Amino acid sequence: SALKRTSSSTGGHILRRDFSSESGPNRKVAVLGAAGGIGQPLALLMKLNPLVSHLSLYDIAGTPGVAADVSHINTRSEVKGYAGEENLAEALDGADIVIIPAGVPRKPGMTRDDLFNINAGIVKSLCTAIAKYCPHALVNMISNPVNSTVPIAAEVFKKAGTYDEKRLFGVTTLDVVRAKTFYAGKAKVPVAGVNVPVVGGHAGVTILPLFSQATPKANLPHEEIIALTKRTQDGGTEVVEAKAGKGSATLSMAYAGAIFADACLKGLNGVPDVVECSYVQSTITELPFFASKVRLGKNGVEEVLGLGALSDFEKEGLEKLKPELQSSIEKGIKFASQS
Ligand code: NAI
Repeated sequence: SALKRTSSSTGGHILRRDFSSESGPNRKVAVLGAAGGIGQPLALLMKLNPLVSHLSLYDIAGTPGVAADVSHINTRSEVKGYAGEENLAEALDGADIVIIPAGVPRKPGMTRDDLFNINAGIVKSLCTAIAKYCPHALVNMISNPVNSTVPIAAEVFKKAGTYDEKRLFGVTTLDVVRAKTFYAGKAKVPVAGVNVPVVGGHAGVTILPLFSQATPKANLPHEEIIALTKRTQDGGTEVVEAKAGKGSATLSMAYAGAIFADACLKGLNGVPDVVECSYVQSTITELPFFASKVRLGKNGVEEVLGLGALSDFEKEGLEKLKPELQSSIEKGIKFASQS
């Protein structure tokens, strides 16, 4: 198609293959919604990742420009842009990882659930194509409401007979990124060494940061833990309000998405002990989908890790989030089965 752009600063395929084999196995990453607020900086960050050999940028419009731009960066991956549904098959063909930031973002006054109908439809159609053209890819779902779009994707894949629960991920990394940043600020410790697991889901009270397990330990007073928890849960709203009608988190989300995709790539490449929080099919609570620490491997999810010891405040938060998360899951399943 005339819309495609290919980068090839080095020329022939043989040369590229030699270069690739020096840098690990070939890995194709597709970004669906690549011309958007998240998609563009995510495309940039994935172009900087040396584990990527092929970067496929898909959107309904605008991707040839993004691809041409990003393709001039002198890093490993070959970049192609695809615009329009007629090019989706080729965009997905052979993908190892598909990252989905397609959809509409929140505006002030909207909850993630308000986005439901538009984004649910987009996710459903994109996942139908994934089932057809790259059924073995790891899917990194960013489109909100993640609490529902992941169950929708699961239903679409089940219907297509391609569902593998080890390969479907809701990206909750931004919650972890925020929890780390906010905790480091309060605890007055260098942020680079901070770890905070965040479990549950990816909206409001369903986001449950486990500050009792945060490292390095800081013994913050309880009121500060409450405030940090609330700020982490409302982090998205903080950005939506500051952007005042111009959308939601894009730059920090692109960073978080790139971190999570990098972890998936490392897992695929056999790097041991790659652990990130993600919203996945789960049996660690009675809910069918739940975010927790996950060990990543050659087939995607290697192990869903348990919650560990919780403080009383976190136990309370866990019980409080279950009804909302359950109903968001049911809403997704219902949407997928009806439409
Ligand atoms: P945006 O509106 O700037 O970009 C969305 C892009 O998706 C646009 O380029 C649009 O053309 C494209 N798109 C729409 N329909 C499509 C389709 N059928 N196929 C392919 N592309 C399609 O929105 P932004 O800010 O990039 O947000 C995208 C999504 O990410 C939203 O659903 C938002 O709520 C979600 N989000 C998720 C976060 C998370 O932590 N998981 C954090 C922030 C946002």
